[in-house]
Amino acid sequence: MIILGIETSCDETAAAVLTNNDNRITILSNVVASSASLQAKYGGIIPEQAAREQIKSIIPVIEESLRLASLAQGNSIELDAIAVTYGPGLIGSLLVGVETAKVLATTWEKPLIPVNHLLGHFYANWIIPPVIPGERSSRGNLDLKKIATSPASPDPRNDNLRLPSFPCLGLLVSGGHTDLVLFTDHGKYKYLGGTRDDAAGECFDKCARLLGLPYPGGPEIAKLASQGQALRFKLPIPMKGSKDFDFSYSGLKTAVANLMHTSEVGFDSSEVKQDLAASVENAIAQSLVDKVLLALKVYPVKDVMVAGGVAANQRLKENLESRVKSLGKNIKLHIPTPQLCTDNGVMIAAAAFFIKKSINPLKLQTDSNLSLS
Ligand code: KG4
Ligand code: ZN
Repeated sequence: MIILGIETSCDETAAAVLTNNDNRITILSNVVASSASLQAKYGGIIPEQAAREQIKSIIPVIEESLRLASLAQGNSIELDAIAVTYGPGLIGSLLVGVETAKVLATTWEKPLIPVNHLLGHFYANWIIPPVIPGERSSRGNLDLKKIATSPASPDPRNDNLRLPSFPCLGLLVSGGHTDLVLFTDHGKYKYLGGTRDDAAGECFDKCARLLGLPYPGGPEIAKLASQGQALRFKLPIPMKGSKDFDFSYSGLKTAVANLMHTSEVGFDSSEVKQDLAASVENAIAQSLVDKVLLALKVYPVKDVMVAGGVAANQRLKENLESRVKSLGKNIKLHIPTPQLCTDNGVMIAAAAFFIKKSINPLKLQTDSNLSLS
């Protein structure tokens, strides 16, 4: 089966073509055009502007994904289905992907599979073999990131390449969502908890802004943090000691703002900024790891999977790896390669291999408030 996945929920315009052989999903192409550098000028996303950028990018991005997959508009006949994110996200951005997918599905007479963006993130964990980063290239005004895959067949005995198995604990950490869910099968899950206010990625972005760093703030904080001392500033660990599966990050952002206003230390020096970035990153990572460990005490799962932009954070990955390993229960941790943590079309197409439920294109509508709860 060959599926084209389209993702336009926020400031990334993405399309990817995937195929499956012997139960293994392989990426034929993966193209992402991001307007994040434009958003960086304004310190965050302006929905209207993000939607306009989506309109400019959507056709070139889809064309490029078909071309790289050795499919062209002329032989789109090779596609078996089109998958598209229908929510949650910014309404203007979502509409661009959904309306384009509806037109393509109708004219090419292909089944259209709607995918919940949040569930889609988890399916970035179903890509094997691991992705090898490809070159970046420009096309007109667009900066398209292309990613190739290794053609080599993975050794199935290598446990590192094992796909997630159920029951599986899922942690979604993105710019808009922080959710903990217990998957018992594809599309079947119990919602355990989520953030009561800001999402983990939002907290990274807001703290980065306080530090004078550009949007998106997560990678910027991570870069600084890698040179800093996490124990220099004592920040609260969000929801420390709470016995539920909820999260909360607005207090941490306020604590950072207060610290910067009241501390005698000047926050202009790069060393101080590095230490504060490391302290913020540490507090966020620790709160996420604490809740995963709490859930693992209650629910006997085989695997844990993490998804969403914040899953690209190296400190979170290392902390999770060591704490999950220390349980000695042989629980396998799945985290996508960094390119597949942030928004992309691969995860949307991958989800469609399992969801499979198509809809009459004329009936598909966006749902900007879609959630997992
Ligand atoms: O999943 P995503 O691409 O978009 C949403 O669906 O929201 O996540 C974007 C979020 C942003 O808040 C960004 O700052 C954060 O993921 N992020 C990171 C890292 N890379 C992206 N946060 C921490 N460390 C990173 N390396
Ligand atoms: Zn996302």
